[in-house]
Amino acid sequence: MTQNLVLAIETSCDETAAAVVADGKNVLSSVVSSQVDIHARYGGVVPEVASRAHVDLIAPVIAQALVEAGIEHSDLDLIAATRGPGLIGSLLVGVSAAKSLALVWKKPFIGVNHLEAHLYSCFLEEPDLELPLVVLLVSGGHTMLIAMDNHLSYKILGQTLDDAAGEAYDKVARYLGLGYPGGPIIDQLAVSGKPEIEFPRPMLHEGYNFSFSGLKTSVINYVRKNPETPIEDIATSFQEAVVDVLVTKAKKAAIEINAKGLCIGGGVAANSRLREAVLDACLQEGLHSFVPSRSYCTDNAAMVAAAAWRRYSQDGPSSLYTGADPNLRLPE
Ligand code: KG4
Ligand code: ZN
Repeated sequence: MTQNLVLAIETSCDETAAAVVADGKNVLSSVVSSQVDIHARYGGVVPEVASRAHVDLIAPVIAQALVEAGIEHSDLDLIAATRGPGLIGSLLVGVSAAKSLALVWKKPFIGVNHLEAHLYSCFLEEPDLELPLVVLLVSGGHTMLIAMDNHLSYKILGQTLDDAAGEAYDKVARYLGLGYPGGPIIDQLAVSGKPEIEFPRPMLHEGYNFSFSGLKTSVINYVRKNPETPIEDIATSFQEAVVDVLVTKAKKAAIEINAKGLCIGGGVAANSRLREAVLDACLQEGLHSFVPSRSYCTDNAAMVAAAAWRRYSQDGPSSLYTGADPNLRLPE
């Protein structure tokens, strides 16, 4: 691999991010400018507002990534951007910026799958993780159990049939009037609550698919009927149900496919209880576990660079005609 200094850009949702990563693992800079404050007043991401904010932020964020990395653009070997899945207007900002820079600076360009990027956040800090591996990818838009036998080769074992895990966190938090995004707020509240309410564990022993919509409704119904229950106990009990389902299925999958280890990725992988439960489950089963740093779980561009580096070494560059694809799937 001769191309080893990658500038990556991530704008699939509400974070404008750029990073410079060497050899797919040495993070020279990782800048994330969050739009959370802009969207919080609406209780969720407003796509049109997000794309306008990306337009304002993209150039300074890229400039900061180059300065923090201590490099000139002439040092770069590859320019990458997330091309999907995500919000079309947001994706277009990152993809257009990356292609323009690639053209002007005469560098190759590669479009990256956001889900593949989340998977590769595991290899950023542990590049020698042994395969086969089961990865639990849990974010605001996706909940998937993926088997990886080889690099860049995936088998989706299961996924959510309705809400993603992060979406359930956000919707429950919204109903409880806790603010946006709900995941980190519920995570924090759950520290001081008691898991006394037995919320349902949907599809716990039914294969590898997930369903979180019914659990969300149970929480809402419970709160309606029992308005005096401390909010911390609701948060802890809800979180226990989510984590129980996620970890039970991930552990079972890892054992069934004879995986060497189990990893987690995506925004919900920043959850304290999930991180602890994954480590415990792996210890019990003698599996290697890997839990990326929190800053590499939520959307960031360092993971995009890691995936770009792998893809480029296998498939070469993308054409400059490559566009954004809001519905891009994980290649199986
Ligand atoms: O990966 P991500 O940053 O963006 C997507 O690709 O969706 O994930 C965002 C999701 C949100 O739903 C947010 O509430 C959730 O990740 N999240 C968490 C935590 N931090 C972020 N969920 C539970 N606990 C957390 N600590
Ligand atoms: Zn994401």
